[in-house]
Amino acid sequence: MRRRLVVGNWKMYGRLDRNKALLEGVLAGVRDFTSADYAVCVPYPYLAQAQSALQGSNVAWGAQNLSQYEEGAFTGAVAPGMLMDFGCRYVIIGHSERRGLFHESNEIAQAKFDAAIKAGLTPIFCVGETLSERESGVTEQVVATQLDAVLNVFGAKGLAKAIVAYEPVWAIGTGKTASPEQAQAVHAFIRQRVADLDSHVAQALCILYGGSVKPGNAVELFAMQDIDGGLIGGASLVVDDFVAICRAAAK
Ligand code: 13P
Repeated sequence: MRRRLVVGNWKMYGRLDRNKALLEGVLAGVRDFTSADYAVCVPYPYLAQAQSALQGSNVAWGAQNLSQYEEGAFTGAVAPGMLMDFGCRYVIIGHSERRGLFHESNEIAQAKFDAAIKAGLTPIFCVGETLSERESGVTEQVVATQLDAVLNVFGAKGLAKAIVAYEPVWAIGTGKTASPEQAQAVHAFIRQRVADLDSHVAQALCILYGGSVKPGNAVELFAMQDIDGGLIGGASLVVDDFVAICRAAAK
Protein backbone atom coordinates (compact mmCIF):
# COMPACT_ATOMS: atom_id res chain seq x y z
CA MET A 1 0.00 0.00 0.00
CA ARG A 2 1.49 3.36 -1.03
CA ARG A 3 1.35 6.21 1.48
CA ARG A 4 -0.28 9.33 0.20
CA LEU A 5 1.72 12.54 -0.06
CA VAL A 6 0.52 16.13 -0.30
CA VAL A 7 3.06 18.79 -1.28
CA GLY A 8 2.42 22.52 -1.32
CA ASN A 9 4.18 24.42 -4.09
CA TRP A 10 4.21 28.01 -2.91
CA LYS A 11 5.67 29.21 -6.23
CA MET A 12 6.88 32.84 -5.98
CA TYR A 13 4.58 33.81 -3.14
CA GLY A 14 5.30 34.59 0.49
CA ARG A 15 6.79 37.09 2.89
CA LEU A 16 8.28 36.35 6.31
CA ASP A 17 5.22 37.36 8.30
CA ARG A 18 2.69 35.63 6.04
CA ASN A 19 4.82 32.49 5.92
CA LYS A 20 4.95 32.34 9.70
CA ALA A 21 1.17 32.30 9.96
CA LEU A 22 0.87 29.79 7.12
CA LEU A 23 3.49 27.41 8.51
CA GLU A 24 2.04 27.57 12.01
CA GLY A 25 -1.48 27.01 10.72
CA VAL A 26 -0.47 24.04 8.56
CA LEU A 27 1.57 22.50 11.37
CA ALA A 28 -1.31 22.72 13.83
CA GLY A 29 -3.82 21.54 11.23
CA VAL A 30 -2.03 18.38 10.10
CA ARG A 31 -0.37 17.38 13.37
CA ASP A 32 -2.77 14.48 13.90
CA PHE A 33 -2.82 13.23 10.31
CA THR A 34 -0.37 10.38 10.71
CA SER A 35 -1.45 8.14 7.85
CA ALA A 36 -0.08 10.35 5.05
CA ASP A 37 3.01 12.47 4.36
CA TYR A 38 3.18 16.23 3.89
CA ALA A 39 5.61 18.83 2.63
CA VAL A 40 5.90 22.41 1.45
CA CYS A 41 8.24 23.62 -1.29
CA VAL A 42 9.04 27.23 -0.53
CA PRO A 43 11.05 29.96 -2.29
CA TYR A 44 14.81 29.71 -1.61
CA PRO A 45 15.06 32.67 0.79
CA TYR A 46 12.52 31.05 3.10
CA LEU A 47 14.13 27.63 3.40
CA ALA A 48 15.71 28.58 6.72
CA GLN A 49 12.35 29.78 7.98
CA ALA A 50 10.66 26.56 6.89
CA GLN A 51 13.45 24.51 8.45
CA SER A 52 13.19 26.19 11.83
CA ALA A 53 9.39 26.09 11.85
CA LEU A 54 8.97 22.51 10.64
CA GLN A 55 11.95 20.64 12.07
CA GLY A 56 10.84 17.60 14.03
CA SER A 57 7.26 17.82 12.71
CA ASN A 58 5.33 15.66 10.24
CA VAL A 59 5.69 18.33 7.54
CA ALA A 60 8.85 18.13 5.43
CA TRP A 61 10.11 20.96 3.22
CA GLY A 62 11.90 21.43 -0.04
CA ALA A 63 12.74 23.74 -2.91
CA GLN A 64 11.09 24.41 -6.26
CA ASN A 65 14.20 24.25 -8.41
CA LEU A 66 17.94 23.66 -8.24
CA SER A 67 21.02 23.97 -10.39
CA GLN A 68 22.28 20.93 -12.21
CA TYR A 69 25.82 22.00 -11.26
CA GLU A 70 27.55 21.22 -7.97
CA GLU A 71 29.20 24.61 -7.62
CA GLY A 72 30.90 27.24 -9.70
CA ALA A 73 30.49 30.60 -11.40
CA PHE A 74 26.75 30.34 -12.02
CA THR A 75 25.33 33.68 -10.94
CA GLY A 76 21.90 33.38 -9.42
CA ALA A 77 21.86 29.59 -9.31
CA VAL A 78 21.42 27.42 -6.22
CA ALA A 79 23.37 24.18 -5.82
CA PRO A 80 21.89 20.89 -4.61
CA GLY A 81 24.28 20.84 -1.64
CA MET A 82 22.96 24.21 -0.55
CA LEU A 83 19.45 22.76 -0.35
CA MET A 84 20.83 19.92 1.77
CA ASP A 85 22.36 22.49 4.14
CA PHE A 86 18.84 23.66 4.88
CA GLY A 87 17.42 20.21 5.49
CA CYS A 88 15.41 19.93 2.27
CA ARG A 89 13.94 16.54 1.52
CA TYR A 90 12.29 17.37 -1.80
CA VAL A 91 12.98 19.42 -4.88
CA ILE A 92 10.52 20.05 -7.70
CA ILE A 93 12.03 19.40 -11.12
CA GLY A 94 10.61 20.06 -14.58
CA HIS A 95 7.60 22.05 -13.44
CA SER A 96 5.73 23.34 -16.49
CA GLU A 97 6.44 26.92 -15.38
CA ARG A 98 10.17 26.14 -15.53
CA ARG A 99 9.76 24.34 -18.84
CA GLY A 100 7.51 26.97 -20.40
CA LEU A 101 8.59 30.32 -18.93
CA PHE A 102 12.28 29.54 -18.40
CA HIS A 103 12.77 27.28 -21.40
CA GLU A 104 13.96 24.25 -19.44
CA SER A 105 14.25 21.33 -21.84
CA ASN A 106 13.90 17.63 -21.11
CA GLU A 107 17.73 17.52 -21.12
CA ILE A 108 17.96 20.14 -18.40
CA ALA A 109 15.27 18.40 -16.36
CA GLN A 110 17.26 15.18 -16.72
CA ALA A 111 20.50 16.85 -15.54
CA LYS A 112 18.71 18.40 -12.58
CA PHE A 113 17.15 15.06 -11.71
CA ASP A 114 20.60 13.47 -11.68
CA ALA A 115 22.05 16.29 -9.54
CA ALA A 116 19.19 16.02 -7.04
CA ILE A 117 19.56 12.25 -6.61
CA LYS A 118 23.34 12.53 -6.22
CA ALA A 119 22.88 15.11 -3.47
CA GLY A 120 20.38 12.91 -1.61
CA LEU A 121 17.28 14.96 -2.45
CA THR A 122 14.01 13.38 -3.57
CA PRO A 123 13.02 14.85 -6.93
CA ILE A 124 9.37 15.58 -7.58
CA PHE A 125 9.54 15.16 -11.33
CA CYS A 126 6.73 16.96 -13.17
CA VAL A 127 5.19 15.94 -16.46
CA GLY A 128 2.09 17.11 -18.27
CA GLU A 129 0.61 18.22 -21.57
CA THR A 130 -0.67 21.60 -22.75
CA LEU A 131 -4.27 22.12 -23.81
CA SER A 132 -3.42 22.02 -27.51
CA GLU A 133 -1.47 18.81 -27.01
CA ARG A 134 -4.45 17.25 -25.23
CA GLU A 135 -6.80 18.43 -27.95
CA SER A 136 -4.55 16.97 -30.62
CA GLY A 137 -4.61 13.63 -28.85
CA VAL A 138 -0.89 13.48 -28.04
CA THR A 139 -1.09 13.57 -24.23
CA GLU A 140 0.46 10.12 -23.80
CA GLN A 141 3.22 10.87 -26.29
CA VAL A 142 4.14 14.10 -24.50
CA VAL A 143 4.10 12.52 -21.06
CA ALA A 144 6.08 9.53 -22.31
CA THR A 145 8.78 11.75 -23.81
CA GLN A 146 9.08 13.75 -20.59
CA LEU A 147 9.24 10.57 -18.52
CA ASP A 148 11.73 8.95 -20.87
CA ALA A 149 14.18 11.78 -20.19
CA VAL A 150 14.66 10.06 -16.85
CA LEU A 151 13.88 6.44 -17.76
CA ASN A 152 16.24 6.30 -20.76
CA VAL A 153 19.22 7.44 -18.74
CA PHE A 154 18.60 6.12 -15.24
CA GLY A 155 16.17 3.29 -15.95
CA ALA A 156 13.22 2.48 -13.72
CA LYS A 157 15.63 2.34 -10.77
CA GLY A 158 16.13 6.08 -11.21
CA LEU A 159 12.49 6.58 -10.27
CA ALA A 160 12.80 4.36 -7.20
CA LYS A 161 14.09 7.38 -5.28
CA ALA A 162 11.77 9.91 -6.87
CA ILE A 163 8.19 11.07 -7.03
CA VAL A 164 6.36 11.82 -10.26
CA ALA A 165 3.79 14.59 -10.51
CA TYR A 166 1.30 14.66 -13.37
CA GLU A 167 0.31 18.26 -13.91
CA PRO A 168 -1.74 18.97 -17.04
CA VAL A 169 -0.63 22.50 -17.98
CA TRP A 170 -4.21 23.51 -18.81
CA ALA A 171 -5.30 22.72 -15.25
CA ILE A 172 -2.61 24.76 -13.47
CA GLY A 173 -3.90 27.92 -11.87
CA THR A 174 -6.96 27.89 -14.11
CA GLY A 175 -9.55 26.43 -11.77
CA LYS A 176 -10.06 23.73 -14.41
CA THR A 177 -9.19 20.41 -12.81
CA ALA A 178 -8.72 17.25 -14.77
CA SER A 179 -11.63 14.97 -13.93
CA PRO A 180 -10.66 12.09 -11.65
CA GLU A 181 -11.05 9.76 -14.65
CA GLN A 182 -8.87 11.92 -16.93
CA ALA A 183 -6.16 12.15 -14.28
CA GLN A 184 -6.39 8.44 -13.41
CA ALA A 185 -5.95 7.49 -17.06
CA VAL A 186 -2.64 9.37 -17.32
CA HIS A 187 -1.46 8.15 -13.91
CA ALA A 188 -2.15 4.57 -14.97
CA PHE A 189 -0.27 5.21 -18.21
CA ILE A 190 2.75 6.52 -16.28
CA ARG A 191 2.72 3.57 -13.90
CA GLN A 192 2.41 1.12 -16.79
CA ARG A 193 5.34 2.71 -18.62
CA VAL A 194 7.49 2.24 -15.53
CA ALA A 195 6.08 -1.28 -14.97
CA ASP A 196 7.22 -2.27 -18.46
CA LEU A 197 10.74 -1.81 -17.11
CA ASP A 198 10.32 -2.77 -13.46
CA SER A 199 7.02 -3.76 -11.89
CA HIS A 200 8.26 -3.39 -8.31
CA VAL A 201 9.40 0.20 -8.82
CA ALA A 202 6.10 0.93 -10.60
CA GLN A 203 4.00 -0.45 -7.77
CA ALA A 204 5.87 1.57 -5.17
CA LEU A 205 6.04 4.78 -7.22
CA CYS A 206 4.22 7.74 -5.72
CA ILE A 207 2.43 9.66 -8.49
CA LEU A 208 0.94 13.00 -7.49
CA TYR A 209 -1.72 14.92 -9.36
CA GLY A 210 -1.38 18.69 -9.66
CA GLY A 211 -3.62 21.28 -11.27
CA SER A 212 -6.32 23.20 -9.39
CA VAL A 213 -6.63 20.71 -6.54
CA LYS A 214 -9.01 22.25 -4.01
CA PRO A 215 -10.80 21.01 -0.87
CA GLY A 216 -13.86 20.38 -3.04
CA ASN A 217 -12.21 17.94 -5.46
CA ALA A 218 -9.34 16.43 -3.44
CA VAL A 219 -11.34 13.51 -2.00
CA GLU A 220 -12.51 12.23 -5.38
CA LEU A 221 -9.10 12.70 -7.00
CA PHE A 222 -7.25 10.91 -4.18
CA ALA A 223 -9.77 8.07 -4.33
CA MET A 224 -8.48 7.02 -7.75
CA GLN A 225 -6.34 3.92 -7.80
CA ASP A 226 -3.17 5.45 -9.23
CA ILE A 227 -3.39 8.92 -7.68
CA ASP A 228 -1.21 8.95 -4.59
CA GLY A 229 -1.68 12.52 -3.49
CA GLY A 230 -1.33 16.04 -4.81
CA LEU A 231 1.02 18.85 -5.73
CA ILE A 232 -0.89 21.92 -4.67
CA GLY A 233 -0.33 25.47 -5.92
CA GLY A 234 -2.83 28.18 -5.04
CA ALA A 235 -4.63 26.25 -2.32
CA SER A 236 -1.34 25.62 -0.47
CA LEU A 237 -1.21 29.33 0.41
CA VAL A 238 -4.49 29.20 2.34
CA VAL A 239 -4.24 27.37 5.66
CA ASP A 240 -7.77 26.03 5.76
CA ASP A 241 -7.70 24.87 2.14
CA PHE A 242 -4.32 23.17 2.42
CA VAL A 243 -5.26 21.46 5.68
CA ALA A 244 -8.54 20.27 4.14
CA ILE A 245 -6.63 18.76 1.21
CA CYS A 246 -4.19 17.15 3.65
CA ARG A 247 -7.17 15.72 5.53
CA ALA A 248 -8.53 14.24 2.30
CA ALA A 249 -5.21 12.43 1.83
CA ALA A 250 -5.21 11.11 5.38
CA LYS A 251 -8.44 9.17 4.92
P1 13P B 1 -2.58 25.19 -8.85
O1 13P B 1 -2.93 24.27 -7.72
O2 13P B 1 -2.56 26.63 -8.43
O3 13P B 1 -3.37 24.92 -10.07
O4 13P B 1 -1.05 24.88 -9.24
C1 13P B 1 -0.68 23.56 -9.45
C2 13P B 1 0.78 23.51 -9.56
O5 13P B 1 1.37 24.02 -10.51
C3 13P B 1 1.53 22.86 -8.48
O6 13P B 1 2.85 22.66 -8.82
